[in-house]
Amino acid sequence: TAVAQEPFWADLQPRVALVERGGSLWLSCSTNCPRPERGGLETSLRRNGTQRGLRWLGRGLRGRARHPSVSNSSDSHFAERPDRVELVPLPAWQPVGENFTLSCRVPGAGPRGRVPGAGPRGSLTLTLLRGAQELIRRNFAGEPPRARGAVLTATVLARREDHGANFSCRAELDLRPHGLGLFENSSAPRELRTFALSPDSPRLIAPRLLEVGSEKPVSCSLDGLFPAPEAGIYLELGDQRLNPYVTLEGDALMATATVTASAEQEGARQLVCTVTLGGESRETRENLTIYSFPAPLLNLSEPNAPEGKMVTVTCTAGARTLVTLEGIPAAVLGQPAQLQLNVTENDDRRGFFCEAILEVDGEILSKNESAELRVLYAPALDSVGCPEQITWLEGTEASLSCVAHGVPPPNVSCVRTGEAKIVEGLLRVAREHAGTYRCEATNARDSRTITVEASLSCVAHGVPPPNVSCVRTGEAKIVEGLLRVAREHAGTYRCEATNARGSAAKNVAVTVECE
Ligand SMILES: *[C@@H]1O[C@H](CO)[C@@H](O)[C@H](O)[C@H]1NC(C)=O
Ligand SMILES: *[C@@H]1O[C@H](CO)[C@@H](O)[C@H](O)[C@H]1NC(C)=O
Ligand SMILES: *[C@@H]1O[C@H](CO)[C@@H](O)[C@H](O)[C@H]1NC(C)=O
Ligand SMILES: *[C@@H]1O[C@H](CO)[C@@H](O)[C@H](O)[C@H]1NC(C)=O
Ligand SMILES: *[C@@H]1O[C@H](CO)[C@@H](O)[C@H](O)[C@H]1NC(C)=O
Ligand SMILES: *[C@@H]1O[C@H](CO)[C@@H](O)[C@H](O)[C@H]1NC(C)=O
Ligand SMILES: *[C@@H]1O[C@H](CO)[C@@H](O)[C@H](O)[C@H]1NC(C)=O
Ligand SMILES: *[C@@H]1O[C@H](CO)[C@@H](O)[C@H](O)[C@H]1NC(C)=O
Ligand SMILES: *[C@@H]1O[C@H](CO)[C@@H](O)[C@H](O)[C@H]1NC(C)=O
Repeated sequence: TAVAQEPFWADLQPRVALVERGGSLWLSCSTNCPRPERGGLETSLRRNGTQRGLRWLGRGLRGRARHPSVSNSSDSHFAERPDRVELVPLPAWQPVGENFTLSCRVPGAGPRGRVPGAGPRGSLTLTLLRGAQELIRRNFAGEPPRARGAVLTATVLARREDHGANFSCRAELDLRPHGLGLFENSSAPRELRTFALSPDSPRLIAPRLLEVGSEKPVSCSLDGLFPAPEAGIYLELGDQRLNPYVTLEGDALMATATVTASAEQEGARQLVCTVTLGGESRETRENLTIYSFPAPLLNLSEPNAPEGKMVTVTCTAGARTLVTLEGIPAAVLGQPAQLQLNVTENDDRRGFFCEAILEVDGEILSKNESAELRVLYAPALDSVGCPEQITWLEGTEASLSCVAHGVPPPNVSCVRTGEAKIVEGLLRVAREHAGTYRCEATNARDSRTITVEASLSCVAHGVPPPNVSCVRTGEAKIVEGLLRVAREHAGTYRCEATNARGSAAKNVAVTVECE
């Protein structure tokens, strides 16, 4: 009414209330209006009992619903433990030396999203942790209580030691000043994987050229890898993946493989080495030319040719190959080189040499082949291999040695003149071995004979070698050197052998035969 002195008011107590979720709260609404016609307490919460007076209304509220909404003048919350604390997912792999973001969220939710999940925010503290170590801590005191969910972010420099570290976020809701407890919860930990991959390319060691059918080792390595055991290394030739043997040494990874070139791969190929780590990769490519280069074929029209025969020597090699036979190159690339000769005894065991040259990718490659010619010729008996005069020492061991040459190698046999028995092996030389022998050398081409005179000589044995001197009985003159034998040389001689140990003497009867 107009006479009223005082403006009307309506009051709601308590102004600020915190009740643990699920608990209950008593609100009281009063006014100084003497006869209020309408009035009440509007809320979406469930009621739990009402008491009324004339200018007064008390109401119990049950905090089952999450978000109470109270009249204009009051902020009442049902406090919740922080039931959702989330650390935003970390990158799958984080490069060492680069920053990454840690972000913790305690989301605001509910029908109208007006209150944080861990409300009220003013009592909330968030901490980001690495293992048990606190990285950053923030409390939200002074924030409007109705502000939406809380977020805390930090920029962190990734280090090697962070590999495998668990990061988490802790939320603490301290409602002790409001007569409630200290509620805390933590996010599930997230494990960080950090890596360092050198900016260098892998070191690929491979041959530039590879012959079809041959195999060569290739290797590829890269160091400065962290964590090296997590890195992968791959080798590919063309589109074929090799199966390398991989070794890890310190921070270096190395792959070795053997490449075998097949005929289908002939041509220019690429060898690729790839190292992967943390979703990144480094690659090196090398060119590899696979070629085929058959060795030259050196052919003699007749490898065993009789004397006087024309022999053709031919050297052949593959296309694009230049052959040179005995220093003379073929006229045309890819064509054979040839030479002819009328063979003589002197050509026996003559070697022929052919070289083939192929240019592959700017590199000169060479292969060679040689062949030997055998010339068939009749046996030859010369005085070196088969001397016509031989002297044997009586009582020693000796053989009748006669060597003939010829192709094929001849057989040689010697018989004493007038006898049939072939003389072979060692003889203990006796007087009766002196005489004339006939040696015959035979091969497929022909046979030759030679007459050998074998004679005996008398020497004395002793150590030191004795001096021997002979004198004719009754004379004093020592007989020395060669004699032209005459009748008067017949007679008895006394020969004496002398050395430091003593002397021995023997009488020798010499007869002179006359025609
Ligand atoms: C409802 O109110 C009664 C009386 O005040 C109280 O004992 C009871 O705990 C309340 N119920 C809930 C669910 O808060
Ligand atoms: C703590 O947070 C986790 C993850 O957000 C949640 O699953 C759990 O229910 C919470 N615990 C409590 C007691 O609120
Ligand atoms: C990482 O972040 C810090 C602070 O935000 C900044 O000073 C630094 O330059 C950053 N480092 C790199 C490598 O980006
Ligand atoms: C990180 O957490 C995982 C699983 O929760 C655990 O297996 C691992 O040992 C932890 N790492 C460290 C460094 O504590
Ligand atoms: C490989 O060969 C290609 C084509 O001939 C050439 O362009 C490239 O430079 C070569 N690479 C190397 C590493 O030699
Ligand atoms: C070598 O030449 C001879 C005669 O010309 C021929 O019969 C023979 O087949 C050739 N051999 C080869 C391996 O070419
Ligand atoms: C080879 O040479 C010999 C002697 O010089 C001669 O008698 C012979 O006819 C020649 N053979 C050929 C096939 O020319
Ligand atoms: C011929 O080839 C062999 C290998 O096949 C090589 O060792 C030799 O040096 C070559 N000879 C010449 C004269 O080029
Ligand atoms: C053997 O003869 C040489 C020279 O005729 C002589 O110097 C040497 O003393 C002699 N030896 C003996 C043992 O008579």
